[in-house]
This record gives sequence, structure tokens and C-alpha cells, in this order.
Amino acid sequence: MGRTWLVILLAIALVVVALGWLNTSRSRQELARRLQEAKEQAAEKPAEAPAALTDPAPGGCNDCHTKKAPDKDYTLQAEAARVKGHPKTNANTVKECIVCHGDRSSKPFKKVLHTAHLRGQVFPKKWDTNCIACHKMRQDGSIGVKALDM
Ligand code: HEC
Ligand code: HEC
Ligand code: HEC
Repeated sequence: MGRTWLVILLAIALVVVALGWLNTSRSRQELARRLQEAKEQAAEKPAEAPAALTDPAPGGCNDCHTKKAPDKDYTLQAEAARVKGHPKTNANTVKECIVCHGDRSSKPFKKVLHTAHLRGQVFPKKWDTNCIACHKMRQDGSIGVKALDM
């Protein structure tokens, strides 16, 4: 009688161990399947290029500086008009502005504009410290400003 019980108990223990093993191998398979799925999804959707690496304004200044609405005039002319004490001007392109904002002026664009954009309220949030929004490489490898000297 005692031996029969022992055999029965052993059989039960074996079944329990076998079920446990089946279960872990199933969840291992499940894990592998999910990992594979995640990998495939990652391959399908390449990460978006950071704002600093895409060109938001192939034409330069005037691509961004437009009149968006009657009360949202961001044209270069309007930007200048908003500066306190700014002389009246019809200038509306960087080529026309730079006449007074060149290298040797008191407010050179190469200083004023970097500060205004790269440390602005809006620009860094949307375009990080994007240089190619305004700059472009010439054929010879040197860097110029779009719509200005190239
Ligand atoms: C006729 C010359 C002239 C032209 C053209 C001109 N500016 Fe100016 N700009 C000035 C002068 C002078 C100041 C300094 C005003 C002051 O501080 O009293 C100035 C100041 C500025 C400032 C403020 C800079 C700072 O940090 O204080 C900005 C911004 C500016 N100009 C943008 C422009 C833009 C954009 C254009 C083209 C649409 C333009 N300017 C065209 C003469 C000019
Ligand atoms: C990618 C869009 C973009 C481009 C390209 C761009 N700007 Fe701007 N600009 C802005 C934004 C946004 C602001 C507001 C600044 C902020 O708060 O970040 C601004 C501000 C300005 C101001 C006002 C600064 C002040 O202190 O009053 C001037 C002037 C200006 N830009 C001139 C230019 C000129 C000239 C160029 C070309 C050489 C240019 N911008 C190119 C987006 C742009
Ligand atoms: C909003 C437009 C704008 C952005 C953004 C911008 N630049 Fe400029 N940058 C200019 C302009 C305009 C000039 C002056 C060109 C001139 O005077 O002929 C200039 C001039 C320069 C110069 C020449 C300075 C010198 O002392 O001769 C360098 C270098 C430069 N930029 C580097 C950068 C780098 C690096 C970035 C990005 C981190 C950047 N710029 C972003 C508009 C911009």
C-alpha cells in the first residue's frame, strides 16, 4: 500500500515539474516573439531627424519671415519696424538689410541675428541651434548666407 502511494506522489510531482517547464518555455517563446515585433516596428519607423539636421527654410530668411496674418507680420521689414528707434526702411531682404548691418556697422547681423535666433524664445524650441536654416555650403565648400552672398 505504502509503495503505491509513493509511486502516485512521484507521478504527480513529475506532472507538476513538466507543466512548469512547458509554461516557462511558452513564456520564453512569447518574450522572443515580442522582441522580434519591437525590432520590426523600429525598423519600419526610422527615428525622425532632429530639428537641427533638417533645413526648415531652403530659401533663407524670407521662408520664415512672412506675414502670417494681419496681426502677425513677421516680414523682415516689420521686424525692423518693431525695433525701437529703427530708421524707416523699405528693406525686406537680408541683402537690403545688410547694407546697414554689415561687418563694420554698430549692429552687425553676424552678432545680432545669432543671439536673436539661437537664444530666442521660439527658434530654439522649434529648430534647436540650427545653422542651415540661414547658412548653406557653396560649391567650393565655403559657407555663405542664403539669399545674401550666394
Ligand atoms: C538705413 C540703415 C538700416 C537698414 C537698411 C536696416 N537697419 Fe536695422 N538698424 C539700423 C540702425 C541705425 C539700428 C540701431 C538702432 C538704435 O539702436 O537706435 C538698427 C537696429 C536693428 C536691430 C536691433 C539690433 C539690436 O540688437 O539692438 C534689428 C533687429 C534690425 N536693425 C533689423 C533690421 C532688419 C531686419 C533690416 C532689414 C529689413 C534692417 N534692420 C535694415 C539701421 C538699418
Ligand atoms: C527657420 C525660421 C527662421 C529663419 C530661416 C530666419 N528667422 Fe529670423 N526669426 C525667427 C524666429 C522664430 C524669430 C523670433 C525669435 C525667437 O523668439 O526665437 C526670429 C526673429 C528675427 C528678428 C527679430 C530679432 C529681434 O531682436 O528683434 C529679425 C530681425 C530676424 N529674425 C531676421 C532674420 C534674418 C535677416 C534672417 C536670414 C538671415 C532670418 N531672420 C532667418 C525665425 C527665422
Ligand atoms: C537667423 C539666421 C542665422 C542662423 C540661424 C545662423 N547664422 Fe551665422 N550668420 C548669419 C548672418 C546673416 C551672418 C552675417 C553674414 C555677413 O555679415 O555677411 C552670419 C555669419 C556667420 C559667421 C561669420 C562670422 C564672422 O565673424 O565672420 C559664422 C562663423 C556663422 N555665421 C556661423 C553660424 C553657426 C555655427 C550657426 C549655427 C550654430 C549659425 N551661424 C546660425 C545668419 C545666421
